[in-house]
Amino acid sequence: ASTLGAAAAQSGRYFGTAIASGKLGDSAYTTIAGREFDMVTAENEMKIDATEPNRGQFTFTAGDRVYNWAVQNGKRVRGHTLAWHNQQPGWMQSLSGSSLRQAMINHINGVMGHYKGKIYAWDVVNEAYADGNSGGRRDSNLQRTGNDWIEVAFRTARAADPAAKLCYNDYNIDNWTWAKTQGVYNMVRDFRARGVPIDCVGLQSHFNANSPYNSNYRTTIQSFAALGVDVQITELDIQGGSATTYANVVRDCLAVPRCTGISVWGVRDSDSWLGAGATPLLFDGNGNKKAAYTAVLDVLNGG
Ligand code: G3I
Repeated sequence: ASTLGAAAAQSGRYFGTAIASGKLGDSAYTTIAGREFDMVTAENEMKIDATEPNRGQFTFTAGDRVYNWAVQNGKRVRGHTLAWHNQQPGWMQSLSGSSLRQAMINHINGVMGHYKGKIYAWDVVNEAYADGNSGGRRDSNLQRTGNDWIEVAFRTARAADPAAKLCYNDYNIDNWTWAKTQGVYNMVRDFRARGVPIDCVGLQSHFNANSPYNSNYRTTIQSFAALGVDVQITELDIQGGSATTYANVVRDCLAVPRCTGISVWGVRDSDSWLGAGATPLLFDGNGNKKAAYTAVLDVLNGG
C-alpha cells in the first residue's frame, strides 16, 4: 500500500495523526493529512479548557471542526482527553474535593454525551502518574479528591458512551523498567481484576534524549496487552526523527496483535508541539516525505 493508513489497514490497524483545527485552512497540511492517515486526534480542541470554558457551559465548535473534517474525509476519531491536571479551565483549577469530583463527572458526561457513538476510543484519564522513581500517582487537584478518582472517571465514561473504547493515556510509560510504567501497569491489572471498565492503554511515546526508545518497548506493549486491554501508540514523535527508531516502534506494535494502531503527534515537523527546529515527525516543513516516513511505510507493508 502506498499510504500509512492503507498500509496499517492491511493488518487491521490504523495509522493516525493529531490534527489542529487552526491548520485546516492550510491546503498543504490537509492534503497530506487527508491522504496518509485514517485516525484523527484533536491536538487541543476536545480538552477540558476547550470544551467547558465556563462551568456547565459546553462549547464544541473547535472540536466539531476537527471531528467533521475527519469524518468527511473517511477517518475515525480518538477523543482526547476528559480528565487531566493540565489544560483545566480556571474555574476547575479553583475547585477541590467533592465539588471538583462532581465537576469531573459532569464534564465526562457532557463531552461524551455530545460525541456519543462517534468516537473510536477516549483518553478518559491522561497523565495521572508521577514522573521519577516513585511509581505512584501524580499530585494534582484531581488526585487530592481521592485515590479512586481514576476509576470513577472510567465508570462514568462507560455509562456515558458504551460504544467507545476507554483508554488510560500517559508518557514515559514506554520503558518497561521504569517505575512509572510499573505503576500504571499495576493500576490496569487491578482495574481488570476488579472489573473497573478499561479497554486500552495509550502509550504516548514522545521519545527524546531523556526518554529514548528502548528495545524493551515490545515487552511493555506485550505486558499491557496480556492484561486483556488494547494498546495504542497515541502521540508518537521521535526527536531527531531517526528512521531506524521509527521502524523499531512500528515493528514492535505489529508484533503484538492487541497493539491496534499508531498515531503521530502532528503532520509536518513544522506542526510539532516541540517548536521551531525540531524534526520529530514523518514529513518535513515543506511537506516532503522523510526517511522516517519511508521506513514506517516499509515496515507496515511487511518489510
Ligand atoms: O490557543 C492559544 C492561542 O490563542 C495563543 O495565541 C497561543 C499563544 O501561545 O497559545 C495558544 O494555545 C496554545 C495551544 O497549544 C494551541 O496552540 C497553548 O499556549 C499551548 O500550551 C498548547 O500546547 C499544547 C499542549 O499539549 C498543552 O498541554 C500542544 O499544542 C499539544 O500538542 C500538547 O499535547 C500534549 C497532549 O495533549 C498530552 N500529551 C503531551 C502532549 C505534548 O505536550
